[in-house]
Amino acid sequence: MRTIEWRDGTVITVDQTKLPHETVTLKIKTIDEMAEAIKNLRVRGAPLLGAAAAFGLALTACHSKANRKEKLLTELGNSAKILKSTRPTAVNLFWAADRILAKAQDYSGNAEELKMLVIREAQRIADEDAEANRSIGKNGAELINDGDVILTHCNAGELATVEYGTALGVIRAAWKQGKKIKVIATETRPLLQGARLTAYELKRDGIPVTLITDSMVGYVMYKRLVNKVVVGADRIVQDAVVNKIGTFAVAVLANEHGVPFYVAAPKSTFDLKRKAGDVTIEERKPTEVTHFANKPTAAQGTDVLNPAFDITPLKYISAIIHESGIYYKQDFCKFANQI
Ligand code: MRU
Repeated sequence: MRTIEWRDGTVITVDQTKLPHETVTLKIKTIDEMAEAIKNLRVRGAPLLGAAAAFGLALTACHSKANRKEKLLTELGNSAKILKSTRPTAVNLFWAADRILAKAQDYSGNAEELKMLVIREAQRIADEDAEANRSIGKNGAELINDGDVILTHCNAGELATVEYGTALGVIRAAWKQGKKIKVIATETRPLLQGARLTAYELKRDGIPVTLITDSMVGYVMYKRLVNKVVVGADRIVQDAVVNKIGTFAVAVLANEHGVPFYVAAPKSTFDLKRKAGDVTIEERKPTEVTHFANKPTAAQGTDVLNPAFDITPLKYISAIIHESGIYYKQDFCKFANQI
């Protein structure tokens, strides 16, 4: 089953805050429900946020009473604003919303036809993501050898995408080719996407996975317990990769130890008109840091910094794995011109 699906005017997905212990299906019917699900990370992961935004606009179109195209365009514009105010960092959400808005604005048919067009375009965005991830997996598997131990951070798996995953797509494809690989997953503080989602996905698929805390990365690199890193991305700009907080530290440690550091991402993650300084890094609420499993761990009133993402300069990245191929450090410029 896909992580997100359009079914008779409803968006079906799984509440990722409940995994791995409970599988709760969400049936999202309105743009406000979609915005709530995104804000609270029930739906998360950059490519999935793209599909979620697209389906959010499909919900608006599907349930709109507008019988004039202009009215529908206003409603879609308002819904896009709501979606864009949820989480600022993953560009996929903005990319998908803008793609649908542009398509709707250019359309010359009537309101009823436009509603169908928006729903179809959202489905196309989801289908393209599923296809891109398979290609990323196939391309990236070439970089993986029999016996490799691959470290991944956060969750760039099936749950972060419409299907298959980006970083975990590479791991899945290599595993399917019969390569005997092992994965080290970081727990990914503070919201534990690595422990709750990555370890769960891999374990379920029978791929050997060992969980570590984020602060153990230096130890496993020093001890040569890992020989490749593959992560996903929330936004790739001209000079950096923006991904889950902690990625930069993993990249620096990998470089220090001569471990290749790969980033797997589809075209919806690229924002090559911008530089790292232009990206808004989401700041989340302090209780995510002062509490663990809803129990306070820090003294009351402790000041907190809680950026959800960090910035890894391109010089730390050995190659980018894209649906169109593998781009090594020396080819990044060529790559930037191509997509
Ligand atoms: O805060 P999240 O869980 O949405 O963050 C997700 C990540 O940082 C992933 O690594 C990234 O979106 C890549 S997913 C293919």
